[in-house]
Amino acid sequence: MAFTFFFRDLDAIELIPGYVLPSISEKKIIKIWDAGCANGPEIYSILIHLKETLNEEQFKGINIFASDIDNSNSFKKIIEEGTYKKNQICSVPSAILEKYFSQDKENPDIYIISENLRKKVNYQKHDLLSLNSIGSDFDLIICKHVLQHFNHKEQVDVVKMFYNSLTDEGFLLCEFSQEIPEYLNSHFKRMLPEQNLYRKICSVNEKRV
Ligand SMILES: C[S@@+](CC[C@H](N)C(=O)[O-])C[C@H]1O[C@@H](n2cnc3c(N)ncnc32)[C@H](O)[C@@H]1O
Repeated sequence: MAFTFFFRDLDAIELIPGYVLPSISEKKIIKIWDAGCANGPEIYSILIHLKETLNEEQFKGINIFASDIDNSNSFKKIIEEGTYKKNQICSVPSAILEKYFSQDKENPDIYIISENLRKKVNYQKHDLLSLNSIGSDFDLIICKHVLQHFNHKEQVDVVKMFYNSLTDEGFLLCEFSQEIPEYLNSHFKRMLPEQNLYRKICSVNEKRV
């Protein structure tokens, strides 16, 4: 269930600096929530891509929050230490590996993400089905390969929780195969035909849904 790998769905990740951030560019601080992040490759892929594409000032303004139910109780340590085994970094291009990872001196099978990326991540263990958000005023919520594990009612409830956790014009990014439940079409506008990138429609935000 926690299957993940570095640079999975790069097309979707590229939308963050390519589409989402330019739409909210007047803001100095950008709040991103990666919901159901598994043990971290998705968060670090996003951070590496942002580091590669944004200027220093813009990158400084990125506040990234990440959460997972983590039934194994192991993700917090892995994410905070940024340690991945050699077989987990196969999909990392060699130039990126060289730039953002170092090999553990005592165990050459372990690669460690650079500290300046590690200290950007605020991770917490969290059950989306609790329907209690980890925060508010997110500019972007990323939820990839997670909603598919929920039934229809749970999907509606979780996406409503995302709606209430976004800024008035915040974005929700799901994977290529995951559309939000039709019931919520009045709450989100699909922004691109080939990607499941949605923008909150704030007119229905008169009262919390
Ligand atoms: C297939 S992985 C996807 C990881 C990553 N988002 C990606 O796309 O590579 C699904 C993740 O959803 C998490 N998950 C499942 N149910 C959850 C829940 N109720 N609340 C939070 N996370 C959950 C699992 O622990 C797992 O890490």
